[in-house]
Amino acid sequence: MNRRTTVLSATAALALTAALALSGCSSDGSADGAAGTDGKPELKVSGAFMPQPVMDMAGGFLTIKNESDTADKLTSVTSPISDDVQIHETKNQKMQQVKSFDIPANGALDLERGGSHIMFMGLKTKPKQGEKVSIELHFEKADPIKVDLPVEAATHNPKQH
Ligand code: CU
Repeated sequence: MNRRTTVLSATAALALTAALALSGCSSDGSADGAAGTDGKPELKVSGAFMPQPVMDMAGGFLTIKNESDTADKLTSVTSPISDDVQIHETKNQKMQQVKSFDIPANGALDLERGGSHIMFMGLKTKPKQGEKVSIELHFEKADPIKVDLPVEAATHNPKQH
């Protein structure tokens, strides 16, 4: 009995030391969990979808909300269905590849039909309406975020409702 108590308190002491070490280095952004205090932007993804592709490429749309005082950038997107996922902006009804999209502090990045979007080139599989496509968003500062894009009808556009 006595021995067990000793082991337990040793574990508790270890846990306490670890917690102290973690909070000690939170200023360099390596500690997770201390929401908003480590300088990493807090990003939330909503409204994600992919219109059912009609050719061997597809578009992806979503909104990334930044609820922090730190601006970030969407730098790349990866997905198992394409080895070449690009990010495009639309200018004068023509789309062109960009290196990154700004996600302003306390603002949002809107990827929507007719505007900026994710573009999946050379699809390995053609997802159908009702299926889901997993992607991973990569940022300049924030940790990567995994998102499942529901596949909607080819003409789906939530902004037109
Ligand atoms: Cu495009």
